[in-house]
Amino acid sequence: MSTYKDTYTKSIADPQDFWKEQAGAVSWYREPEEILRSEGDRWEWYRGATLNTAYQCLDRHVERGLGEKTALIYDSPVTGTVTHYSYAALLDKVSRFAGALTSLGVEKGDRVIIYMPMVPQTAVAMLACARIGAVHSVVFGGFAARELAIRIDDARPKLIITANFGIEIDKIVPYHPMVFKAVDEAEHKPQHIISYNRPGLQETPPSYFLDFEELEARSQPVPCTEVASSDPLYVLYTSGTTGKPKGIVRDNGGHAVALHYSMKYVYALNPDDVFWAASDVGWVVGHSYIVYGPLMMGATGILYEGKPVRTPDAGAFWRVIEQHRVNVFFTAPTAIRAIRKEDPEAQLFRRYDVSSLRLLFLAGERCDVATLQWAEELLQRPVIDHWWQTESGWPMLANMAGLELSPVKPGSSARPVCGYDIRILREDGTEAVAGEAGYLAIKLPLPPGCLQTLWQNHTRFVNGYLTRFPGYYFTGDGGYADEEGYFYITGRVDDIINVAGHRLSTAEMEEIVAAHPAVAECAVIGVHDDLKGEVPLAFVILKDGIEADPAVLEQEILQSIRRDIGPVAALKKVLFVKRLPKTRSGKILRNIMRAIMNHTAYTIPGTIEDVQVLSEIAALA
Ligand code: COA
Ligand code: AMP
Repeated sequence: MSTYKDTYTKSIADPQDFWKEQAGAVSWYREPEEILRSEGDRWEWYRGATLNTAYQCLDRHVERGLGEKTALIYDSPVTGTVTHYSYAALLDKVSRFAGALTSLGVEKGDRVIIYMPMVPQTAVAMLACARIGAVHSVVFGGFAARELAIRIDDARPKLIITANFGIEIDKIVPYHPMVFKAVDEAEHKPQHIISYNRPGLQETPPSYFLDFEELEARSQPVPCTEVASSDPLYVLYTSGTTGKPKGIVRDNGGHAVALHYSMKYVYALNPDDVFWAASDVGWVVGHSYIVYGPLMMGATGILYEGKPVRTPDAGAFWRVIEQHRVNVFFTAPTAIRAIRKEDPEAQLFRRYDVSSLRLLFLAGERCDVATLQWAEELLQRPVIDHWWQTESGWPMLANMAGLELSPVKPGSSARPVCGYDIRILREDGTEAVAGEAGYLAIKLPLPPGCLQTLWQNHTRFVNGYLTRFPGYYFTGDGGYADEEGYFYITGRVDDIINVAGHRLSTAEMEEIVAAHPAVAECAVIGVHDDLKGEVPLAFVILKDGIEADPAVLEQEILQSIRRDIGPVAALKKVLFVKRLPKTRSGKILRNIMRAIMNHTAYTIPGTIEDVQVLSEIAALA
């Protein structure tokens, strides 16, 4: 078996050859004419090749005689359901639903927004789009109508697929009111709305909503549409440093190669294994490792509609692992912290047999050492922190367990995954030495699977990612590397925060807070939280003459964030202040405010307008 070092070196020295070999895992209709074409700020993988992503995930396994094998297990403690879908059954559903979309006029290249909870119909809808070459854009169910409207206007979908409700532990979350409001607010109007109407809600959907199951049942299956490697498979919006989310575009060809590669070499998954990513299909983890990755491999995946705790208790994850004989498991550190908080002595854990489990992977936010070590002690198996982003679509730093499991260093997300030439750069673009903190940047071109542009906005892509350090992709994260090439992520260097593994923009929150009629100025920062890792905190200066009760104003501001972004934003506190610390040119010193509130060290910049403000902020910490 080749070692990590040899393989990594080869992947960087000769990417064309390396990724040509990996492309062999994909069933192409037409083989690539060229592996990589790279010119300035544009590059393309597998030029001339054609394929279909749904074919990779379903048809080819059925053709190989694996039709009866379980493709997907839907495990829903919130409804008391466990359903197994074989590859043949899933293929039947997907090809029929694809037929339904075709009959509604959806064609290759058309966008379809999917705003649905964690039900198998969501995966069916995604795969059906892939089958006909339509571009899906899944919107996380925890986002409110305004967020949905922003995405409708950017993606301009031909239709929206939704459901009547989601379930959050024991609370029904109706989706239709959000859809009405979003469609009303958006300038672009979709031609149709399809709704999956799950049992349990009395309300009848409006007659112009088409019924998901009826459409699926009465439609004829359609074959796969051949698409180019570079054709978009999906657009997934993620928080940027402005109020407007960025539409990350994923191609078909590079994505297929990258997911195959990562399943085998990062997650060490065998085709007969069961893989479980306890995330949500609304996030990139859900796209890559609930839906596409395990299916491409012909393995068995799990779609879990529940939480780590309270569905019904902190033993939920261990129950799923035992019941479905999970071999490789992926979750966010925040989920482990939630379990640890409720079951610190692991009494619930001991009720279950988790002997099938080989590896636990953690990502989505910085993994604190205490959480990592608690999980290691509990499981007595490798716990692997790995680092990636919506932009990459698959891990960038990891302990590549399928190649060679290296020693785990707590606090580190390990070493660059093959294909990623990751550097720590100083402010001036020169390279930092071992142990020196800087900015994480990746030498261009990025490997297959990563974004190559933003939806309909290449200029924003270039300005946002490629301009800061010419020749590199700027990740937005800070960190350092040690002598052995292990990387340590210290956190975002921009206005993005990670709340319980959910990526959110404080700039967007500031826009909403600032829109409150009583607010003169505001700043939203992320502060440490024992459970969620980080939570937002708003500082507000009121307009002169405002006499309203601050408690009432605080509630109004909190509600406006909940109404406009959604409950996941989890803004729970507003601090009213007289002044904000600023530079003489008027820039709010948010990183210093963050350091003060987190009780960490900071240096007072010489450009500060009035140093006294810092003690006013410190008095609130
Ligand atoms: N639809 C509607 N509402 C949602 C939602 C969804 N899909 N997901 C979350 N929410 C709501 C919750 O109901 C909650 O609402 P509330 O304020 O009315 O209680 C709010 O958003 C915050 O939810 P959450 O972030 O889940 O916090 P929590 O306190 O309910 O639970 C954890 C804490 C740690 C258990 C939970 O965050 C968790 O499971 N985290 C794992 C995250 C993860 O997998 N991230 C993916 C990256 S890999
Ligand atoms: P998202 O695009 O939602 O996947 O969020 C990506 C961001 O989450 C990264 O830019 C990091 O800031 C953070 N992140 C993800 N994984 C890790 C990790 N293992 N360690 C530290 N931060 C992480």
